[in-house]
Amino acid sequence: MTPFSPANAPMLLFSGNSNRSLSEAIASYLGVSLGSCEVGRFPDGEVRVKFKADVRGADVFLIQSTCTPVNDHLVELLIMADALRRASAARITAVIPYFGYSRQDRKDEGRVPITAKLVADLLQASGINRVVTLDLHAAQIQGFFNIPVDHLYASRVFTKYVRQLELPDLVVASPDAGGMKQAWGYSKRLDAYLAVVEKRRISGEDVEVGFVIGDVANKNVVIIDDMISTGGSVSKAAQLLKEKGARKVFVMATHAIFCGRAVEKLRNAPFEEIIVTDTIPVTANIERLKVLSVAELLGEAVHRIHSNKSVSTLFQRL
Ligand code: R5P
Repeated sequence: MTPFSPANAPMLLFSGNSNRSLSEAIASYLGVSLGSCEVGRFPDGEVRVKFKADVRGADVFLIQSTCTPVNDHLVELLIMADALRRASAARITAVIPYFGYSRQDRKDEGRVPITAKLVADLLQASGINRVVTLDLHAAQIQGFFNIPVDHLYASRVFTKYVRQLELPDLVVASPDAGGMKQAWGYSKRLDAYLAVVEKRRISGEDVEVGFVIGDVANKNVVIIDDMISTGGSVSKAAQLLKEKGARKVFVMATHAIFCGRAVEKLRNAPFEEIIVTDTIPVTANIERLKVLSVAELLGEAVHRIHSNKSVSTLFQRL
């Protein structure tokens, strides 16, 4: 019997319900169609899954962002993986463009969970053999898994976009100390200055900003963050940067969670443009919102994994 090799197993792509349009764009990049699978609900709300295609011996890629409603989308992913494993798929790769629960990645006070680790354990228990994801809240989450994790960066998409804006006197700003390393990387690649906003979190919805480290007076500033959740961090950072004399302020964030009063805060903040990706479907109506697609990046990763080619060139931040 020929041992399993991804290159000679058929590649099949399936999508959960979280971000069908991104799944379709990935499939289109790869020149294939999404496999047929019903992901519905039983009358009591439990998730019901039925694959319509034969998956035996296949190299399966399951695309699902664990975005809002997070619990539903996570359970869909787990149950789909379980069905694939029981139907004898040869390998199951979860493509998780947005990895939910990633902010709960450490015990920073007593009696709290490390939910990102729990999610990693659940994914592995469901039969998933490999994970592809993008801009994890903390890169160390890769270590919560005992299976290969390909952690990609949206910076390939963002830097290309910023370069074509041809902004003079560019400063890359982090909205908090935690994001400084990421902002520093962008500033190097874009040949820009670096600034950091001092931020304190008051509650899940509220932040306070104090001072800015770095000179932003009369500069064009791009704030970079991994996610916009309630919109407080980047909106308050933008206001402060403007008060410090910034010329134009942009924000780039990979995951557009946009919960709570995010849309209202973003509309009222002094942004020239709000640039996000399509890891999470964006339905918000904000005039200065620009959505860049990560479909090619994820599609290329799928292609390389299936063909047993190196994925590491895609890790390089351009
Ligand atoms: C914080 O560590 C994250 O990188 C984001 O800055 C934060 O989660 C954004 O949250 P919000 O939009 O609610 O301020």
